[in-house]
Amino acid sequence: MEESEMQAESPIGIFDSGLGGISVLHTIHQMMPGEDLIYIGDSKYNPYGIKTKEEITERCLKICDAFMELGCKAIVIACNTATSACVPLLREKYPIDIIGMEPALKVACSLGEKQRIAVWATSFTLKEEKFANLMHRFDQEHQIDRIPCPDLVELVEKDQLGDTKKVKDTLNFYIQKDQGESLDSIVLGCTHFIFYKKTLRQLLPDSVQIVDGNEGTAAHLKDLLGQKQLLSNKKTGKVEIKNTLEEKVEYSKKLFQRLEECK
Ligand code: DGL
Repeated sequence: MEESEMQAESPIGIFDSGLGGISVLHTIHQMMPGEDLIYIGDSKYNPYGIKTKEEITERCLKICDAFMELGCKAIVIACNTATSACVPLLREKYPIDIIGMEPALKVACSLGEKQRIAVWATSFTLKEEKFANLMHRFDQEHQIDRIPCPDLVELVEKDQLGDTKKVKDTLNFYIQKDQGESLDSIVLGCTHFIFYKKTLRQLLPDSVQIVDGNEGTAAHLKDLLGQKQLLSNKKTGKVEIKNTLEEKVEYSKKLFQRLEECK
């Protein structure tokens, strides 16, 4: 096999602070079913959203080192928080493509003039310079509110998505915090929040759009690999799920399956 061919058949590494990135893994698998995907959830160190930049960076370096050892051809940071903390450093350190995520504010602003938008994310993402820069590109023309939603991360990590009352109460708490009825859109700026999309849709008026960055990220990854002739030629790829807490692996597979059933 030629070296380029070997690289094209190499896996893609995808990671998050825990289980949120499973939603990104799923979107990538749907868009690129021939790729071998290795997911690492860092549930042992979750949540990242209340950690310092240094602490988050240290974790990301450990995980990316592991992906390099596994011979990955690209790494997707399926975590807005980790991306805000250290994407430039990771891009400098590793010789492969590193794809990051940020709240899909641009998409929300493109939905119309003078939009009223709530960005739901972790405290870390919302107070970082990366988000401030993004927001300043749009806040002259649109009204943008920042809503930190730590409880939505915790419910996913603690396997409480099945507790419908708790989930609805928590979502309603964040909706009311922002007078949900008068919004044009909510941006899900944390990958853990994708699991609430269906329930959130039921709680919000039809006029409020729910926007997230998963599809955009997967499409960007596909483009980058395509440009370098690094797309796999296989029909079906393997999906491998790992976690720094071994006991979370089964649950992660259940979450992935749940998204399969929602297709
Ligand atoms: N899933 C992560 C994100 O997209 C953050 C969750 C956490 O606080 O660890 O930002």
